[in-house]
Amino acid sequence: MNYREEKTGSNRIPVSETLIEAVKKRVDAPLFRHITSVASEALKLSEILSLSDDDTKRVCTAAMLHDVSKRLDINSQISLAGKYGVELTENDLLCPAVIHSLTGALIARYEFADYTDEIICTAISCHTMGRPGMNVIDKIIFTADYIEPGRAHEICIKTRENLYKAFNRNETDKLDSLDNTVCDILKNTVAYLKGQKKPIHPTTLLTLRDMEEKNL
Ligand SMILES: [Fe+2]
Ligand SMILES: [Fe+2]
Repeated sequence: MNYREEKTGSNRIPVSETLIEAVKKRVDAPLFRHITSVASEALKLSEILSLSDDDTKRVCTAAMLHDVSKRLDINSQISLAGKYGVELTENDLLCPAVIHSLTGALIARYEFADYTDEIICTAISCHTMGRPGMNVIDKIIFTADYIEPGRAHEICIKTRENLYKAFNRNETDKLDSLDNTVCDILKNTVAYLKGQKKPIHPTTLLTLRDMEEKNL
């Protein structure tokens, strides 16, 4: 089978229309486009990696909810975390770009409880930094967020091309190809943050170390 990179529509994402409509109401149009594109990409990766129907549904639900709190300002993020009993750490506050993954997981757990479980919420919470011991659902969300076809940055396009080339090389195990991509994304993120002289969340570095040890 030849795995192609073309875009797919959002009409066959296996999650309920009610969930899709609820997310649509909470985000702006460009962000909704990104979210549905991540869900389509995540669906495609789930199929390539032969996930079960239940796990494919989990992947798509996590994708639909992963950025649900992304546009909230920092104070709203902090109070949202507090409302659900989570105190953000000093490292979280130094890296505000990652906080929406933590608050997104809380919204998924408490406000979309009918659609989610622990596996889905964990994948949402680690979509920006990963986590040591990521499972395949975590890795698919993490990767789909970075390579969805709406991403215009050259490094995202290249990462996508490399992953599909690897899928089409039959000698490489598909899960290994995904692991290599997760590693590449983490390295790109660390290099980007260093270049911008921005702090790097320790979880990002722990995830990278964990993935590199596994890939040895
Ligand atoms: Fe995000
Ligand atoms: Fe995203």
